[in-house]
Amino acid sequence: MQRAPLQRPSRPPHELFGIFTVAPQMFGLFDLLPKVARSDASVLIRGETGTGKELVARALHLLSPRKEGPFRALNCATLTPELLASELFGHVRGSFTGAIKDRPGLFTLADRGTIFLDEIAEMPLDIQARLLRVLQERTFIPLGGSEPLRVDVRVLSATHRALREEVARRRFREDLMYRVRVVPVFLPRLVERDGDIEALTWHFIGHFNAREPRKIEGIEPEVMDAFLAYAWPGNVRELRNAVEYAFAIGEGPVMSADELLPELRGEPPRPTATPGRFDPLAEERERILSALRATHGRKGEAAKRLGMNRSTLWRKLRELQIENH
Ligand SMILES: Nc1ncnc2c1ncn2[C@@H]1O[C@H](COP(=O)(O)OP(=O)(O)OP(=O)(O)O)[C@@H](O)[C@H]1O
Ligand SMILES: [Mg+2]
Repeated sequence: MQRAPLQRPSRPPHELFGIFTVAPQMFGLFDLLPKVARSDASVLIRGETGTGKELVARALHLLSPRKEGPFRALNCATLTPELLASELFGHVRGSFTGAIKDRPGLFTLADRGTIFLDEIAEMPLDIQARLLRVLQERTFIPLGGSEPLRVDVRVLSATHRALREEVARRRFREDLMYRVRVVPVFLPRLVERDGDIEALTWHFIGHFNAREPRKIEGIEPEVMDAFLAYAWPGNVRELRNAVEYAFAIGEGPVMSADELLPELRGEPPRPTATPGRFDPLAEERERILSALRATHGRKGEAAKRLGMNRSTLWRKLRELQIENH
């Protein structure tokens, strides 16, 4: 028997500066954030990838008396130790090869505001020592400099690791752990948030309905079954991507099971189409390529034929890795 498409639930989710939820597991956090935001206490946000750590950091800044000041985020995992030190503390001209002029660091640029140190567990030990000094004395010396500078910055940080374990492995300073983790905040995984898979699916549908030509009004129950059965290792970010994928490759007002990513269909991802099997991505790609052939590569016309607007076509060309037509 065919089941009717699911409709958007009438009750909207709770929201705090872009963090949406209906899950009781998140209510404690929603209570805590406005209180913690009032103080200058350093906050360590822990959660797996895609759980919303950066959103929480921004919410803390916007809820704080520093909200008119700057918010600066830095990912400690992506820079070499030398660049990371220079990003944070700045440098004076000639302090290392390539330092051709004075450059202010994040601690200067974020004065009277908030710094968000993402992936803080990846910070090298010598930079940890310098950070500890800033937190203790509210001063720092730029690379190659001699005068300590005063700063008024609140430090928020995030990690997907347990800092205590990093301390036990001697990869993280214990004294710094206590300094950055005055208030620990924990973000549960998406699958641990009751009701959020459904609520956030509808939230992202609303988001893309406003941005895309396609308007989704219903969801096939099979889609929601698959969403609820899936482990979501990429958490909320992955759910957002799954919804965006359906907008990119599907059509019509109902989100259907053939618009699910392979991993959500419980099948291993296939790089190429298997003959005889419906592969929506390969089909979309073929449809776009033939429209481009028919219009001799004129994208405006091809978009018209395909019934999409130009910018959607451009995005799809990028996503489907169709080069230079
Ligand atoms: N509760 C939520 N409501 C709405 N959108 C959310 C929520 N949580 C996360 N998102 C969205 O999911 C994406 C990932 O969030 P964010 O970058 O804050 O995660 P993260 O924990 O910092 O991830 P990573 O560990 O990979 O850096 C963003 O697009 C964000 O807007
Ligand atoms: Mg992040």
